[in-house]
Amino acid sequence: MFNTRDTLKINAKGHLEIGGADCVDLAAEFGTPLYVFDEAYIRQMMRIYRDTIAEEYDGNGLVLYASKAFSCTAVYAIARQENIGVDVVSGGELYTAMRAGFPAEKITMHGNNKLPHEIAEALDCGVGMIVVDAYSEVDLIEAEAEKRGIVQNVLIRINPGVEAHTHAYVQTATPDSKFGFSVASGAAEAITKYALSKPHLRLRGYHCHIGSQIFEKQSFVLAVEKNLAFMAEMKKNLGFEADSLNMGGGFGIWYAEGDAKIGVAGYADYLRALLSTVREGCKKYGLRLPFVYLEPGRSIVGEAGITLYTVGAIREIPGIRKYVAVDGGMFDNPRYALYQSRYTAILANRAAEEPSELVSIAGKCCESGDLIGVDFNLPKAATGDILAVFSTGAYNYSMASNYNRNLIPPAVLVNGGKAEYIVMPQTYEDLVRNDAVPERLK
Ligand code: LLP
Repeated sequence: MFNTRDTLKINAKGHLEIGGADCVDLAAEFGTPLYVFDEAYIRQMMRIYRDTIAEEYDGNGLVLYASKAFSCTAVYAIARQENIGVDVVSGGELYTAMRAGFPAEKITMHGNNKLPHEIAEALDCGVGMIVVDAYSEVDLIEAEAEKRGIVQNVLIRINPGVEAHTHAYVQTATPDSKFGFSVASGAAEAITKYALSKPHLRLRGYHCHIGSQIFEKQSFVLAVEKNLAFMAEMKKNLGFEADSLNMGGGFGIWYAEGDAKIGVAGYADYLRALLSTVREGCKKYGLRLPFVYLEPGRSIVGEAGITLYTVGAIREIPGIRKYVAVDGGMFDNPRYALYQSRYTAILANRAAEEPSELVSIAGKCCESGDLIGVDFNLPKAATGDILAVFSTGAYNYSMASNYNRNLIPPAVLVNGGKAEYIVMPQTYEDLVRNDAVPERLK
């Protein structure tokens, strides 16, 4: 029922196990709600992308883990050990990566509105690449690079106009998008000319990212084809031959019935399809093979993570719905509230039991839309059961909040059956740490 992989199974006690650790024991030791990450899975995913580029493209590329999916110091340390790069989208992600001792030359900075201080910080750290998404950014990078007497490598984010089948909020390459310069309108060519005119910018090529949680290989392939056609046009029109191409991220993962179970090896097939598109396109257009970047986030950490909750109040509204409330909610997982996301869950302490009823899982926040989701097939849950929700490794902790002054749950990393904190529990003191009380209110 849950995605099959070596490290997620039901043990002899009938308990769910992740990475060799019994989830009931984890809940007892660390409390709930708890994010649990399987280190082996994260490493496997980083390696499959890295090794596919090595094997299929002579190593002429770099996987950048899109750290917005799950950002904490330990995850950058894993990426560093695995010898891959990372993509950061804010001064905060950059700071965290640097705290983990991440090599700056393997960091790419993104964002559709990078702030002046974020650009200055990126240059101070010496990030390898900045992906430009506005004229004002070109000016800022030029000024800051000149001040420091350096030349900064940049890519331009283009919008190739590829529609991908995913939630509207996570589509990025439609005509109405806040991201990227449109190829069709001529905007991408105009910004190319502008960037080339700046002596402290070294334009290396282009980036495009068509969206997230996408399964159609064809959409990715089409985006890369359009990118190469545009590169050929720039060579012809401006005499500029790009030497780098960033193909973005966006590979879908399994959340619930109906989603493909791609499996670790399946992601290599996606990447292979893109790399052969690059080779064919370059041959067709007479371009030299670019250095390629790939920016997977969700597919690296999404299925590596689960969330454990304790079942609390249960409310049955006869003929309408049964709500099973847990000790978490939209403060640790806002994805149902934002995107009506679907998930799969089981009772971790009764994992071998057959499901017998359809329930909605409610959070503890003060609003009706605070659900982990609707229509979960579970055995009859009782107060005190441990509920495990699968595929919560991406965009859960990273989008968590202290709404209702709930505490953001800690995260543990499991390796060989042993769990250790990678995000410590918050305390009530953390909640008031930044509060200030003007003198007249005292
Ligand atoms: N590169 C760029 C420029 C991106 O904007 C993103 C995701 C990625 C790479 C990584 O995409 P991935 O491989 O993770 O699909 N909060 C939403 C997802 C937002 C994705 C934003 N950009 C969610 O929970 O579904």
